[in-house]
Amino acid sequence: MPTRKSGKPPSRRRKSAAPKGRYASPRHFEIRNSPIQGRGAFALEDIPRGTRLIEYTGEKISHDEADRRYDDEKMKRHHTFLFTLTDNWIIDAANGGNEAMYINHSCDPNCEAVIVGDKRIYIESKKRIPAGTELVYDYQYERRDDHTAEDEEFYRCLCGSPKCRGSILMPKKAKRSSSKKRAGKKSRA
Ligand SMILES: C[S@@+](CC[C@H](N)C(=O)[O-])C[C@H]1O[C@@H](n2cnc3c(N)ncnc32)[C@H](O)[C@@H]1O
Ligand SMILES: [Zn+2]
Repeated sequence: MPTRKSGKPPSRRRKSAAPKGRYASPRHFEIRNSPIQGRGAFALEDIPRGTRLIEYTGEKISHDEADRRYDDEKMKRHHTFLFTLTDNWIIDAANGGNEAMYINHSCDPNCEAVIVGDKRIYIESKKRIPAGTELVYDYQYERRDDHTAEDEEFYRCLCGSPKCRGSILMPKKAKRSSSKKRAGKKSRA
């Protein structure tokens, strides 16, 4: 059976620019039980689009160290507080993490993870979020070509969105096609 990768891949959105001016204080959301999984983060008031909500903090560790700490083979279901920063570094929010570590995954997210200067990860709202709504972003866990049905189950998504792709792994790559129309079709997991 292939070794599963515990880390989250870096967000596809990277920024080198200075942070946006608009920050929400941690009190703009609270942590409580989530219908998705365990605990989650919920907006305490309407949050405008483009608001930098919180930095994803934690201990910076190597991929090898993450593999030492989290043996996916011993977990019944995937559960970590890891976020891949670069090809060399992962943030483990289990040590030195903050409320950001409770933000769950959704296949139809209202937030996104933004990596700034290969150093810092921020969670930002990507649309207006009404008070009471759970804050979620797309984890896009690394998907490898040799993933099995068992792996899909291990990474099963419980986001409940009508757009749910069934897995917290990143969407399967669309098959290459010479037809423009077909190539533009969304891939289904
Ligand atoms: C960073 S934690 C998020 C907080 C988590 N709910 C908790 O209470 O610890 C990431 C873990 O939460 C779970 N999780 C988050 N979103 C999920 C989803 N949409 N479906 C299933 N599990 C999810 C997975 O176990 C994942 O490894
Ligand atoms: Zn989903």
